[in-house]
Amino acid sequence: CGIVGYVGSQSAWPIVLEALQRLEYRGYDSAGIAVLDRFGQLRLRKTVGKVDGLTQGDETDYPDGTVGLGHTRWATHGPPTDANAHPLTECHRQIAVVHNGIVENYLELKQGLQQQGHTFSSETDTEVIAHLIEEGMREGLRFPEAFRQMGRRLEGSQAIAAVCQRDPDKVCALRVGHAGGIVVAHRDGQGIVGSDLPAVLPILRQRPGPVAYLEAGEMAEVTRLGVRVFDLEGNSIFKEMRTVFPQDALVDRGGYRHFMLKEIMEQPQVVAGALRGRVNFDAGRVELPDFPFLEDEIRDFRRVVLTGCGTSLHAAHVGRYLIERFAGLPAEVESASEYRYREPFLDSDTLVVAISQSGETADTIAAMQDAKERGARLLSICNSEESQAARLADGSLYMGCGMEIGVASTKTFIASVTILFLLGIYLGQARARLSPEVRRDLIADLASTPRLIGEMLADVSQYKVLAQKFSGYNSFLYLGRGINSAIALEGALKLKEVSYIHAEGYPAGEMKHGPIALIDRNMATLALAPRDRLYDKMAGNIKEVKARRGIVLGVLTEGDTELAAEVDDTLFLPTAPEHLYPLLATVPLQLLAYYIALDRGCDVDQPRNLAKSVTVE
Ligand code: G6P
Repeated sequence: CGIVGYVGSQSAWPIVLEALQRLEYRGYDSAGIAVLDRFGQLRLRKTVGKVDGLTQGDETDYPDGTVGLGHTRWATHGPPTDANAHPLTECHRQIAVVHNGIVENYLELKQGLQQQGHTFSSETDTEVIAHLIEEGMREGLRFPEAFRQMGRRLEGSQAIAAVCQRDPDKVCALRVGHAGGIVVAHRDGQGIVGSDLPAVLPILRQRPGPVAYLEAGEMAEVTRLGVRVFDLEGNSIFKEMRTVFPQDALVDRGGYRHFMLKEIMEQPQVVAGALRGRVNFDAGRVELPDFPFLEDEIRDFRRVVLTGCGTSLHAAHVGRYLIERFAGLPAEVESASEYRYREPFLDSDTLVVAISQSGETADTIAAMQDAKERGARLLSICNSEESQAARLADGSLYMGCGMEIGVASTKTFIASVTILFLLGIYLGQARARLSPEVRRDLIADLASTPRLIGEMLADVSQYKVLAQKFSGYNSFLYLGRGINSAIALEGALKLKEVSYIHAEGYPAGEMKHGPIALIDRNMATLALAPRDRLYDKMAGNIKEVKARRGIVLGVLTEGDTELAAEVDDTLFLPTAPEHLYPLLATVPLQLLAYYIALDRGCDVDQPRNLAKSVTVE
């Protein structure tokens, strides 16, 4: 979800609307804006669906006022209906609240408030927030005080902003727990709070400006005069402001039809960017200046645990193979959403690598916190230097690939895998597992990847043809072996995310233990069979599928006419050293998912039910 609040000299509606459009990639089941008008009355509009629905076709018709709140929502409690869309207003429309996260003790609070005579008009947990503020004000507290007291009663992780008719010149914002950040910016009599940087762009458009990030347990009171920050006890806190450049907060589609395609096309530069400053070709060394541990400490590591969610979890799977292979360290992969509910054994000899493009995914943050408490060494791989993951980790390796807007991750997966490749070599180097010659070859191989990916992206016409052929299938199996089994998982995820076709990724060796029962002429199988150490095994699996009249799309190495003759259709990868195939094979799977989704008329950049940054657990 994305939230925004504005107080200033200009009309609030267009500013809040623009901020919401910039945050829309975070969720778009419903949206709402509340403006305090010239007469001090809250005026509210909500819509089911995307932010554009708020303008109702007439962009000049909006409530006038200089204080406003907005929200774009990804449904958690309650379906995405008008009544449940934020901002929720309560107290005879005296208070408007926008909220990101889940009030975990909401039922208990709601029952208590109902006993005190409050009546509820929606099914969302957010409404208790408005009632709690109202209750505080009934007891005589001023709005900011009542807002702060409300923050003390909530359990769970959340970000909240509110405005109040009785104290109309301020926006209060609060962060409880670690899910959902809040950025605050102030300039020239205007203040803005938002879920993340793009939200503050409307007031920082012309030139760089100062922003601050709220930590858990902090609240901000924003007026035309400035920003004051307090802890939940009411003590004033000094916040350091950082200077942000408008281009960091700005994003555009760069001439492509969709962000997803633009981001796929950026991947050669993304790999090059991830390598820049991190490899010394001559010495055959990987240099990670941001890596937070000394070589001595690396030698003491006994184990690596990689964690993340969704696409980042799949990058972790690739990373496991690379770290085992290059560094000779035991490596495990754990889904962050499960890990935190176990009682994992972790100690200071364990390196935990948390992967998250946004650095804000609630489950990943919670797993990181748990790992930290258990004394593990914590590294994050993320795409935002300002993210919670970056702040929580002992150190971070940044993807540096610019903001990813398409909800289905593409370039950040490639960046994560490239960095994990470097990390594997780096750990192997520190542990004297790789000779300088081997390292030099590995680095040279990596350095050729941007070119190889660029060549694959030069002509996408075959994908359009294949998409037409395959978009009618209702079910796909993606198979791969060894390190490429992780790419099979990611390929299947991409397809289901953007095209809504049921797709499963499987290690090919597992096929005969279940999925083979599904195979018939209505089932499409995508088989990753590049010429690597497991090629023969994959060829065997392909034959098993064909023997059952399954339809096979083979992802093969160019020149492999033998296997090409066995399958129904082919996509070719350039000839390359086998450890590059995970990076290379990712690209055709992304393009296939994209063009199949286009063929089915899906909303590629904003698939239904998904959110770019899932800040609920
Ligand atoms: C959401 C997105 C996925 C993404 C996952 C993890 O579920 O829809 O595409 O892979 O979050 O995101 P992260 O920012 O932690 O990499």
